Amino acid sequence: CGIIGVCTRVDKKLNTGDVVYKGLLRLEYRGYDSAGVASVEQGVLRVLKGKGKIADLEKKLGLSRVKGSVVIGHTRWATHGAPSDVNAHPHTDCTGTIAIVHNGIIENYRELKEELAKRGHVFKSETDTEVVVHLIEEFYKSGDRPYDAFKKAVSMIRGSYAILVVFASAPNTIFFAKKDSPLVVGLGDVANFVASDIPAILEHTRRVITLRDGWVGFVTGDSVFIEELGKGPVNPMEYVRVVEWSLESASKGGYPHFMLKEIHEQPRALVDTLYGLSSDPTLREASKIMAEARRVFITAAGTSYHASLHFAVALSKIAGVLATPFVASEYEAYLPVVREGDVLIAVSQSGETMDTLKAARAFKERGAKLIAVSNVVDSAIPRESDIALYTRAGPEIGVAATKTFTTQTLLLSFLVLDYALLRGAILKSEYDEYARELSRASDLAAKSIAWSEGLAKKVSEMLRLKQSMYYLSRGVGLPTAMEGALKIKELAYIHAESYPAGESKHGPIALVEEGFPVVFVVPRDVYYEKVLLGNIQEMKARGAWIIGVAPEDTSLGEQFDLFFRVPSSHWLTTPITHTPPMQLLAYYTSTLKGYDPDKPRNLAKTVTVE
Ligand code: G6P
Repeated sequence: CGIIGVCTRVDKKLNTGDVVYKGLLRLEYRGYDSAGVASVEQGVLRVLKGKGKIADLEKKLGLSRVKGSVVIGHTRWATHGAPSDVNAHPHTDCTGTIAIVHNGIIENYRELKEELAKRGHVFKSETDTEVVVHLIEEFYKSGDRPYDAFKKAVSMIRGSYAILVVFASAPNTIFFAKKDSPLVVGLGDVANFVASDIPAILEHTRRVITLRDGWVGFVTGDSVFIEELGKGPVNPMEYVRVVEWSLESASKGGYPHFMLKEIHEQPRALVDTLYGLSSDPTLREASKIMAEARRVFITAAGTSYHASLHFAVALSKIAGVLATPFVASEYEAYLPVVREGDVLIAVSQSGETMDTLKAARAFKERGAKLIAVSNVVDSAIPRESDIALYTRAGPEIGVAATKTFTTQTLLLSFLVLDYALLRGAILKSEYDEYARELSRASDLAAKSIAWSEGLAKKVSEMLRLKQSMYYLSRGVGLPTAMEGALKIKELAYIHAESYPAGESKHGPIALVEEGFPVVFVVPRDVYYEKVLLGNIQEMKARGAWIIGVAPEDTSLGEQFDLFFRVPSSHWLTTPITHTPPMQLLAYYTSTLKGYDPDKPRNLAKTVTVE
């Protein structure tokens, strides 16, 4: 879910409804099954909310036209309670004078709800969130001031939350609390802001404070107060930083969708990441932690997991080290063997994915060192890690990851090289040779995009009629094939599976019949070309429609019914050269089928629940 609030200085005019509405549009990637706003104007609280996309709700309800010195808004990704008008946020108390928006999960909401129901509270929704506003009401009724009532309620809830609360009786204040869900405060000239992420408020300010877990406080139009719950005040000015992201990079910049823009931004994102790495001593520090470690574990979710798999393969092939990659939500199966001397590398573009955060915390508790790889400075996972490495892809708004994936693989490849050099697994001359290949990343991605865009459009016309397909590869190409399958599944809703090509004989091939699409991801490597030839022929013999994603100089060109040529380069750059055509294929198939690739159904950009 995404939340945003704005609080103006009493003497300044600002169209607060419009600010929140536009902010919600920017936050829509975090969830979009329902949305709503609450405003306080002259002591009166007003709520507008409903099921549906924000732009549709705007037409129906006029969200942007609400007025008030404070306005808060929410865009929802349902966890407790189906998407519906009543379950949409904001939620209000029995008197309709306190409103809340919340991202996260209140774990003890059932107990609290029972208790409150006994005291006569009537609940309108099925959400866990509504309980919190009733709890605040309970304290407020008994005579507490708004902030005290708010704090008492927060101290009673368990779980994860980023919360904003407004009171009709406190018309110039937004109260906030944060634990395990992201929340930033933005300090502006005529207003202050609180939001789930920076792009939502970037139009208004670059001065932000990333709130820490356990912090509560409030903003008015011209002040901010923060304290650590139970510990006392924090000096907010110590935490103010000026963000460099441009507004341009957080808006569509002429492209019909964020996703297409982000695909095309990859060359720039790769240069920026490369440039960042060259001046960053943390890469060496991370290598040292790895070199001192007994065992290396890698964890991530979704696309970041595919980058982790590439990392693990490269670690084995270049550094001669066996690392253990695992899907973050499965961490519990690995935990019993973890102890001091181990290291966990947690890869998360947002730095906020709850499964990855939980895995990181659990490993840390057992004494493992933590290295974070993220795209968002100061996000939860980097903050809790011993060291954080950052890709410099700029904000990624499209729900399906694109530029953060290719930049992750670039960063992780450099980590492999640095580590391999440190351990003496490669010579400096070998390091230089690999590094030279990697430094072509931006150019490689640019060519790959330019060469494949036209064909991707054409192929999508045929692909849109298919229900099912395979993405096959071997070894160093497999993580990239997995990413290709995930993209088409997420965006075009085509059932796609990725398999090691050798394994496809053991089951998947049973489904293959005339016209069944099979994408072969062929890395540049004589061995892989040789073994993949056999697999291609097995599929062809059953009538499969063979789509090749392969280097321009591959020996397999004639085998393909359709051939996405990518620039010829070292296998280490396979994700960078081979992923763009598959991203474009997913994008164009999605739009051709009439879907919105920026907001695929049922998915959220950042999953902050377990
Ligand atoms: C969600 C997104 C994916 C993303 C995954 C992991 O599922 O839809 O695109 O890859 O989360 O996100 P992270 O921020 O941890 O990389």
